[in-house]
Amino acid sequence: MSTPTPNFFLSPPRIVHGPGSLSCLGGEAAKLGRKALIVTGRGSSAKSGSLEKVRQALLGGGLDVTVFAEVEPDPSVETVEKGVALARERGCDLIVALGGGSPLDAGKAISLMLANPGRIQDYEASAPERSGPPIVAIPTTAGTGSEVTRVAVITDTAARKKFLVFGNMLVPALAILDAELTVSMPRNVTAATGMDALTHAVEAYLSKKANLLTDPLALAAMSTIAANLPVALDYPEDLEARQEMLLGQLQAGLAFSNSSVGLVHSMSRPLGAMFGVPHGAANAMLLPAVTAYNLSRCKKRLGGVALALGCREPSAKAAVWALKELFAETGLPAKLSDYGVTAEAIPAMSEDALAAGSSRLNPRQPELADIEEIYRSLL
Ligand SMILES: [Fe+2]
Repeated sequence: MSTPTPNFFLSPPRIVHGPGSLSCLGGEAAKLGRKALIVTGRGSSAKSGSLEKVRQALLGGGLDVTVFAEVEPDPSVETVEKGVALARERGCDLIVALGGGSPLDAGKAISLMLANPGRIQDYEASAPERSGPPIVAIPTTAGTGSEVTRVAVITDTAARKKFLVFGNMLVPALAILDAELTVSMPRNVTAATGMDALTHAVEAYLSKKANLLTDPLALAAMSTIAANLPVALDYPEDLEARQEMLLGQLQAGLAFSNSSVGLVHSMSRPLGAMFGVPHGAANAMLLPAVTAYNLSRCKKRLGGVALALGCREPSAKAAVWALKELFAETGLPAKLSDYGVTAEAIPAMSEDALAAGSSRLNPRQPELADIEEIYRSLL
């Protein structure tokens, strides 16, 4: 008989939340380091003013600040290397990652590479050993959950492939969830990142690794997101709905980080790597189709999803219907061809999706032909 694999539950030691909670950054960061590297995107955090707020807070805490504002959507190996070089040159001992999932993942990868040899690609197969500088994660979307997870997604641009790096040292030392930083998110980003979070919750709950610690978080995340995403979409300045969304996506992040995601995430990665489909938008489109595919293997659990989403009956079909309704409300594109995806790419994308670790943890074990069929149905 094989020994059962032990389950770990990881979470940042400190999570600060609430509108205005960024005010604690200077004091908290000063406990973690002296020279901060702010890792952020190429435009939106500067435009919204959040980069300047973070810079001022760090300076106010007596820290030295270097800004690395070069992270593109789906951060590449080269971007990570550039950030590492800058951090080395300036002697940074703290990473402050600000933005959506991309800057947060890049910040985690930079921290990892400051302490471990080789290239970031080397850690796709083997876990890094040493901890890098502590990471402070400040999301401006809601969200990827990256501020609480032990994973970073990096893109190998040459191979047109996204890969995952796992490591306990990637869990940030501090996460700050301040809704004031999310109100400037455009509607399509609110929609895509919100649906990403909903996908995390649903996949975490249906995962073969779901357990009694992750289930309540996943179910609560579904309810919170279903109730608040439509409000955040229609009333972007509603701080209460924005804060609830941040907490809902955090619940979802803790749930999937400690169980897993499933086939939706396996299938969205090649769409991002090969056609640049935004991660959340790809997940949003795939979620109802993959849930319908899973239905026969997890009817009871899908009943729970239905109730969490506000349906009256614990019915698996109602869950699929509710996911479709929420997706329709977001107004996100409903067809893969809207993103230029072609039928010729389906075999290669399907191979990539089947090989992903999350496919093995999906409630229904997919065959290559099943994955091809789901992609085809969305063309
Ligand atoms: Fe995701």
